[in-house]
Amino acid sequence: MKLRLADGAALLQGFAAARSDNLLSALQSIVSAAPFRHMVTPGGFRMSVAMTNCGHAGWVSDPSGYRYDPVDPNTGQPWPAMPAVFFDVATQAAAAVGFENFEPDACLVNRYEPGTRISLHQDKDERDFTAPIVSVSLGLPAVFLFGGLKRSERPVRIPVKNGDVVVWGGPSRLVYHGVAPLPEGEHPATGRTRINLTFRKAL
Ligand code: SIN
Ligand code: FE2
Repeated sequence: MKLRLADGAALLQGFAAARSDNLLSALQSIVSAAPFRHMVTPGGFRMSVAMTNCGHAGWVSDPSGYRYDPVDPNTGQPWPAMPAVFFDVATQAAAAVGFENFEPDACLVNRYEPGTRISLHQDKDERDFTAPIVSVSLGLPAVFLFGGLKRSERPVRIPVKNGDVVVWGGPSRLVYHGVAPLPEGEHPATGRTRINLTFRKAL
């Protein structure tokens, strides 16, 4: 089911559910080449969410700032290629919200454990804001915080579960968003974790 969140933004409930096992098995090969790690913010704090990437560029944070890097700084190698099932889910979800020509070149993979969260932020390290953001939830359920274009707007709390996809673009491209602290739980496919795939056109 498609639920409109704002102009250019929607929650696609269950959109990727039938492919969640395929997404998770493709993720295993990514993680064996580019293991999850806790990046450090420019302010010097270790992020509680573990991250990796696939695609032509990966989102990286370190004491010098945020950037998209074609190379994984931890391995010195290019990030693993984006699997076809990742690309297909992302482009099809974008099209379902009206973004027909989405060509993601970067996928940030976030891994949450109970208690971890991402505070409200905008995704604005990409070169071109005409492409949407596509965010796929896998594993444990969470509460996605969908705010407005100003940090001061109180976010709407959106429950997301395995296979749900949130898309925001167009007039919503720069909305503030985040994830509430992950509740305790156990998921048959991911154990005590939630995985989020965020697709961007970064370059
Ligand atoms: C993010 O904003 O990078 C993560 C969103 C999510 O985990 O749902
Ligand atoms: Fe984000």
